Amino acid sequence: MSNEPTRLEMFLTRLAFLLCGKPVYQAFADRLPLDGGDQVLDFGCGMGTVAYYVAKKLPHGHLTCLEISDRWLNACRKTLRGYRNVSFLLCESPPLLASESFDVAYCHFVLHDISESELARVISALARALKPGGVLVFREPLNEAGKISLVKRLVEQNRLIPKDSRVTDVPLMGNALECVYIKE
Ligand SMILES: C[S@@+](CC[C@H](N)C(=O)[O-])C[C@H]1O[C@@H](n2cnc3c(N)ncnc32)[C@H](O)[C@@H]1O
Repeated sequence: MSNEPTRLEMFLTRLAFLLCGKPVYQAFADRLPLDGGDQVLDFGCGMGTVAYYVAKKLPHGHLTCLEISDRWLNACRKTLRGYRNVSFLLCESPPLLASESFDVAYCHFVLHDISESELARVISALARALKPGGVLVFREPLNEAGKISLVKRLVEQNRLIPKDSRVTDVPLMGNALECVYIKE
């Protein structure tokens, strides 16, 4: 199965970014616990909708934009051209990431797209890549209740402690659950 998006999918995502950049993606970026010097991972960055806002918040830190799709990662490079604190990583699944290398990892509308059999490997790779005290944040559509329950179970099995959660109404996408976890 191809991981690459169609032109239509890319066009619609760009449109959503233009129309709803601030209320959807910037609002999510503003809630991330960043202090300006963090090492941050955007897992499944797509065209860089959230990364565009996060990169501005890391004057002394670094953002890694990770994708399984070459086409999305190239689109992300274009969205974030000019930023010197960002790198781009094309990865197979599960991603190969250095242990304890990130202060914050976030997944924005990504985990519900990953098959149940793959999720366990992906989540343990993300948990391993966080530093002790590091934070994992994900936001996923609420209509994927079964997938969300599985994600929560797997995250907790990887010794991440729930810290916060909220339901947000995302324009064009409906209600979504946003959860924050801390690594012990
Ligand atoms: C719905 S899009 C969301 C993109 C972006 N986070 C946003 O909110 O605009 C899901 C993205 O996750 C990526 N993705 C899916 N499975 C992945 C995996 N196993 N590893 C890395 N990226 C993945 C897809 O290629 C796609 O770009």
